[in-house]
Amino acid sequence: MATESIEIIPMRAGHLDKINVIEQQVFTSEAWPIKTYLYELKENQFAHYFSLLKDGLVIGYIGLWIVIDDAQITTFCIDRAYQGEGYGDKLLSHCIHYASMRCIRISLEVRESNHSAIRLYRKHGFVDGGVRKAYYGDGENALVMWRYLS
Ligand SMILES: CC(C)(COP(=O)(O)OP(=O)(O)OC[C@H]1O[C@@H](n2cnc3c(N)ncnc32)[C@H](O)[C@@H]1OP(=O)(O)O)[C@@H](O)C(=O)NCCC(=O)NCCS
Repeated sequence: MATESIEIIPMRAGHLDKINVIEQQVFTSEAWPIKTYLYELKENQFAHYFSLLKDGLVIGYIGLWIVIDDAQITTFCIDRAYQGEGYGDKLLSHCIHYASMRCIRISLEVRESNHSAIRLYRKHGFVDGGVRKAYYGDGENALVMWRYLS
């Protein structure tokens, strides 16, 4: 039986068509358009984005902004067809390791109702940092989570 190949590499413009499909399926009306990702990749000096490739195809991605010694996760997603199989865990570990080489702290915002993501973040040492009221377009609160990096 052939073994699967998993790679995590810096996101490229060539990944964006597939990322856009995943983004529309998962985030629907809140999906970022391709031009937002292009801005992040080409213009934003604070942005660090990674794609997870399975057998050469993009099935997930994560984004970070790093400002001096502070990292913030901006987006994080696994193709719906591959969720719950450990790929998000791998991608988040990669991101934390990358940030830990450069920063002392990492944070993110997550919908209060997103229990699976919150559980994943807690597993990786994130703790609750507060609530941003009505942070999302539909009025839902965001939970701010963070952890120190060593
Ligand atoms: C959140 C997300 C990136 C996690 O990726 P994933 O590949 O599905 O997660 P994994 O299979 O690696 O699971 C890792 C951990 O997440 C948690 N988790 C994942 N799916 C879960 C579910 N359906 N219910 C409860 N916990 C779940 C568990 O803690 C799990 O660890 P465990 O298996 O040891 O219990 C992915 O589900 C996703 O893209 N969701 C939609 C977009 C999103 O919510 N992004 C985050 C915005 S802040």
